Amino acid sequence: MLIIGCSHGKHLAKKVAKSAKAPYAELFVNKFHDGELYARFRNSLKGKKVVLVQSFYGNINDALAEVVFAAQTAKELGAKKVTLVAPYFPYLRQDKRFKPGEAISGHIVGKLLSSYLDEIYIMDPHLHRDKTLGHIFQISSHRLTADTLIAQYIKKNIHNAVIIGPDWESYKWAKKTALMIGAEYRILEKKRYSSRHVDVRITKPLHLKGKTAVIVDDIVSSGHTLLETIKDLHRLKPKKIVCICVHGIFAENALQKLRKAKAEVVACNTIPNHVAKIDVSGMLGESIRE
Ligand code: R5P
Repeated sequence: MLIIGCSHGKHLAKKVAKSAKAPYAELFVNKFHDGELYARFRNSLKGKKVVLVQSFYGNINDALAEVVFAAQTAKELGAKKVTLVAPYFPYLRQDKRFKPGEAISGHIVGKLLSSYLDEIYIMDPHLHRDKTLGHIFQISSHRLTADTLIAQYIKKNIHNAVIIGPDWESYKWAKKTALMIGAEYRILEKKRYSSRHVDVRITKPLHLKGKTAVIVDDIVSSGHTLLETIKDLHRLKPKKIVCICVHGIFAENALQKLRKAKAEVVACNTIPNHVAKIDVSGMLGESIRE
């Protein structure tokens, strides 16, 4: 097995290789003046199981093209099997045609990558209407979750935590982590009107005085879901509010906005950023270890 750090996966790939007890190399990637990508392996791939590590943040479409180039090239160079480890995998929130004429991007990207890869591992994919990765990919697919790592983080660092899920989809992380550490939890109700307009409601009495409200969700993108939740929770006068997510995309200065709203923010390191304190590389490495 050979672990390859792609341009958006390098922050984790070396540690993934260490935990998988496999050698590590990097894909050389460059960009031409017109935006075209150049990719080159500098190691022999003949007869090897090649594991590409690539996360999808920033220019996600470049990251996607890079995986397609790498996977096809690895096969042409004699790789026995090509696997993708995606700490964060994009496009999964577009899992249906919400408005007539829309592309169901999650399915299209799944189909595209299925024709180049043999296997895929994804950390906490945002599965909603598609219940399993088998609905998206036509190859062997593995869903990993950081919930135990989040639970361990809360147990070690936060006292008197009440876990809050901002919407029913978040119960997978919020309820599970709460049950793991024996904390009280509450799932709130969210209505999304647009990508930037959401409404979050606390529907039943919730006592937070003297407690730390810990909001747990899978993705923070624009941050509006958390900002709305924080606004409601501050009214209940908790000692502190901490937001924990798996994938901290933090688009549109979301991190600054959350801090301004007087919340502490912690993320897993599926996407590199200043608050990526929960390390998922060991879990990724162990999952692919031969
Ligand atoms: C949605 O169902 C997800 O679990 C997140 O709550 C959502 O993606 C967060 O997006 P934003 O930060 O843009 O509100």
